[in-house]
Amino acid sequence: MDITPNTGKEQEALWNGPSGRAWVETQDLLDRLLEPFGDRLVTGISIRSGGRVLDVGCGAGSTTLAAARLLGPKSRCAGIDISDPLIAAARARAEQESTSATFIRANAQTYSFDPASFDLIISRFGVMFFDDPVRAFANLRQAATPDAALQFIAWRTAAENPFMTTAERAAAPLLPKLPPRKLDEPGQFSFGDSRRVHTILEESGWTSIDIQPLDMACTVPEKDLVRYFSRLGPVGLALQDADDRTRTQVIQTVRSAFDPYVHGAEVRFTAACWMVSARAAFPSLTPNE
Ligand SMILES: C[S@@+](CC[C@H](N)C(=O)[O-])C[C@H]1O[C@@H](n2cnc3c(N)ncnc32)[C@H](O)[C@@H]1O
Repeated sequence: MDITPNTGKEQEALWNGPSGRAWVETQDLLDRLLEPFGDRLVTGISIRSGGRVLDVGCGAGSTTLAAARLLGPKSRCAGIDISDPLIAAARARAEQESTSATFIRANAQTYSFDPASFDLIISRFGVMFFDDPVRAFANLRQAATPDAALQFIAWRTAAENPFMTTAERAAAPLLPKLPPRKLDEPGQFSFGDSRRVHTILEESGWTSIDIQPLDMACTVPEKDLVRYFSRLGPVGLALQDADDRTRTQVIQTVRSAFDPYVHGAEVRFTAACWMVSARAAFPSLTPNE
């Protein structure tokens, strides 16, 4: 469910190319897999009626649409994403439901948001891909009202998420060109170190920073497992260019490596994540304080 760590331009190319296409094609599977995270993020929303929510790296829009459903027609929920195919998918979904949600196709790191135009900024796994995270979070803070909150979910380290790296570890002998994970570069695990996340938020001007571990029980239907690892992540990307023989070998080898997670018709694993929250400014003191 991740993409190869790389520079900003390469991230943009990946999400507008192979990774974006793979996410659109497996959206049904990803929506089921990631639903508990979206529920946790969206059910926690508490803002005034008519509040304005920004969903960063919104992908195909699941959490943006869920927030709009929860907050009702007076709210203004907007999703921003760098990927054309994912924003197109989000807009198509929005057309199917009567929703006030809107979608912006842009880089959230540099997009010129109207200043102080959002009361809440959320993200489900959409903020780990900036090439300059301090600049990106400073830009988001400009878009936030002074009493706005930031709340996002990001992965902890690869070591704490062995399910997520099972495919690449098993496939490595067959796909020697698989790129190594570089933890301080944009990518799935770039927010694994909570001290780094804290520093990024502090340097970009956010306050009241709180970073808590979130361990979430996740399931994937066993019938979807091969589709999951052969379309997504570094192995999914590498298989797009592999010959049929390599592809068959990789699928067999990797499928066996997932055996410990398979329980009958269900694949089960625990996702090790961070629930991160912060505020745009310190709460103002009343005159008596
Ligand atoms: C792991 S996906 C998560 C998608 C969505 N939040 C979800 O949970 O289904 C990461 C998303 O971040 C987007 N993204 C990456 N870099 C971005 C940037 N600089 N600005 C906006 N979106 C970005 C990608 O296009 C992708 O849709």
